[in-house]
Amino acid sequence: MIGTGYVGLVTAACFADLGNTVFCVDKNKEKIDMLNKKKIPIFEPGLEELVKKNFIFGRLKFTTDLSLAIKSSDIIFICVGTPSRKKNKSADLQYVFKAANEIGKFIDKFKIIVTKSTVPVSTGDKIEKIISKKKSRKMFEVVSNPEFLREGEAIRDFRFPDRIIVGSNKKKITKKLQSLYEPLIKKGAVFFSTNRRGAELIKYASNAFLATKISFINEIANLCEKTGINIEDVSLGMGLDKRIGSRFLRAGPAYGGSCFPKDTRAITKTADLYKTDLSIIKSVIKSNAKRKIILIDRIKKILSNKLKNKKVAILGVTFKPNTDDMRESSSLLIIPFLDKRGAKITYYDPSGEKKHFYNLRNVSFCKNVREACKNSDLVIIHTEWDEFKTIDFKKISRSKKLKIYDMRNLYSPEKMKNLGFSYYSIGR
Ligand SMILES: NC(=O)c1ccc[n+]([C@@H]2O[C@H](COP(=O)([O-])OP(=O)(O)OC[C@H]3O[C@@H](n4cnc5c(N)ncnc54)[C@H](O)[C@@H]3O)[C@@H](O)[C@H]2O)c1
Repeated sequence: MIGTGYVGLVTAACFADLGNTVFCVDKNKEKIDMLNKKKIPIFEPGLEELVKKNFIFGRLKFTTDLSLAIKSSDIIFICVGTPSRKKNKSADLQYVFKAANEIGKFIDKFKIIVTKSTVPVSTGDKIEKIISKKKSRKMFEVVSNPEFLREGEAIRDFRFPDRIIVGSNKKKITKKLQSLYEPLIKKGAVFFSTNRRGAELIKYASNAFLATKISFINEIANLCEKTGINIEDVSLGMGLDKRIGSRFLRAGPAYGGSCFPKDTRAITKTADLYKTDLSIIKSVIKSNAKRKIILIDRIKKILSNKLKNKKVAILGVTFKPNTDDMRESSSLLIIPFLDKRGAKITYYDPSGEKKHFYNLRNVSFCKNVREACKNSDLVIIHTEWDEFKTIDFKKISRSKKLKIYDMRNLYSPEKMKNLGFSYYSIGR
């Protein structure tokens, strides 16, 4: 497994748990040292136990020595990051190509090289070219096997995936991958194979479609707020149609995370390259950017545009619950904005303090909900961690003037009104 991040570490631990011997390689020595001391560098439910167990049994090994890992393996997974390029927002493939170069140096007998990183159409062709410069084509085969796990549910998603997609131009190689995944297929996972470029596109098209669903329902929520309709009813009513489905139809903040923002941008860049206009996805990207502004405007309105010295508590700053991942979270825009306007911000997140806010003068991290909300003028529920679902606001604040902005619709507007709070939510 080259790259021991959210995808690489989970995949490695899960494959090891199925009885395989897995070498995890990362160029980040600190990460590897931590793992060798049985410390987990990321927050992912259930991962610590799984890593420890398989490490102790000797099925999971952590190293910075790529040569050793490659020589000891039959199948090599590339799981490095593919962030947005700063300049033009296409996928930055430098880590993938570096990994490919290194693989080329060290392969000594036939290897299957699997791209698990999310990569644009034709990246597999480029990896093949890079390795061919160093080794004979007979020594390797490059396959696409995109990853669909969700942070926070990653282990469950590995064990019970909706589908396993393998893209290869060789039937024999597809069969090999199928046999690796056999324990999951036996439990009901659908194995779907196509050619390499097809698999690469399936991943981007899937993420772009899910991002579209979120943006769609967020825009409908805006209309609900103007028309006195409850967005929850609209989501339920729509979702009952099997052609639509209820998942990803919950209105809230802008979508964030390590995948949807960068992948929607990257697929439109790929399409531009092939002179195809993905106008719907381009609109989704714009809509999502606008969403963050809409939420900030709402906060301003709730505080009657008087933000200076207002005490604002933010509950949850990660882009979703059960992860410590901050990549492209709406909070990264909301908190600096409030700080700049002179509000005093206290925040609490179950995954801990975030380095992103260290340099902001008016922002401090609190150890729990109660501490964060003490003497607040406004409480913003930003991420739907379970522990935010049953807060006794009466205990937390004696002030009847407390305002609550629930960006995840966790509470009933009627009940909050009866308790005497000014309660605001999304599309209701
Ligand atoms: N995070 C998710 O939920 C998710 C889900 C599906 C797919 N993906 C895709 O999977 C890929 C990895 O995502 P992630 O979130 O795990 O990234 P990550 O940033 O958490 O991890 C990437 C790791 O790769 C290491 N690395 C980079 N270059 C290396 C090299 N040459 N040799 C060894 N190690 C190297 C980095 O040090 C880092 O630890 C991305 O393409 C992403 O789009 C992510």
